[in-house]
Amino acid sequence: MHFLKLPGLLPDATDVLFEASKQWLNATSHVLPQIPLKDLAPELHAACEDLMHAKMIKSRVFVTRPFSNSGIHIDGKDWKIGTKWALNIPIFGCVGTRFAYFEVPKESAEAIAARPRADYPEIDSYALRFEETDVLERLDWVEIDCPTLVQTNVAHRSENPNAVPRVILSCRFDRSQSTSLQTEIRLLASRGCVAASQRAR
Ligand SMILES: [Fe+2]
Repeated sequence: MHFLKLPGLLPDATDVLFEASKQWLNATSHVLPQIPLKDLAPELHAACEDLMHAKMIKSRVFVTRPFSNSGIHIDGKDWKIGTKWALNIPIFGCVGTRFAYFEVPKESAEAIAARPRADYPEIDSYALRFEETDVLERLDWVEIDCPTLVQTNVAHRSENPNAVPRVILSCRFDRSQSTSLQTEIRLLASRGCVAASQRAR
């Protein structure tokens, strides 16, 4: 399992965040602009930090065009350096879409260095990209219909088969590069934030 749904634990700020996202709805590619979440939705920002017991270091909206997918990638500069998990919150058009995981070959450092990348250094975003032909196996997937912790150091992409853009708020924290998703799930469980049925997975 590469994700953990966290329904009902965060305040809803969908309206204000959708308003803030509208300027990107006509984007012609997958876009991921940073937004000032603390200013736009201070209650949600505080609740996210309180839930994770961590300081939020980045908040972005990810917009995936209608009838399209983002590229398959892992977050970060290579397999070792990058965020391992993120908190994704649905804003608009997420029902019926997928956050899908893939098994891809783990390559040598040299091969990784030669790979095509999807980097946006101006917004401090880096991704190691893979082609569909690299995929060994399609793994699990999740519909982000509530706040969801997602693993980001396993190859993944967003898939939007809908006629409207898919908008997600994606938050990274000061531990996102150092702890695993499984560690975060254990921490949440130890504080009683995760239901017993989810802990067992
Ligand atoms: Fe990603």
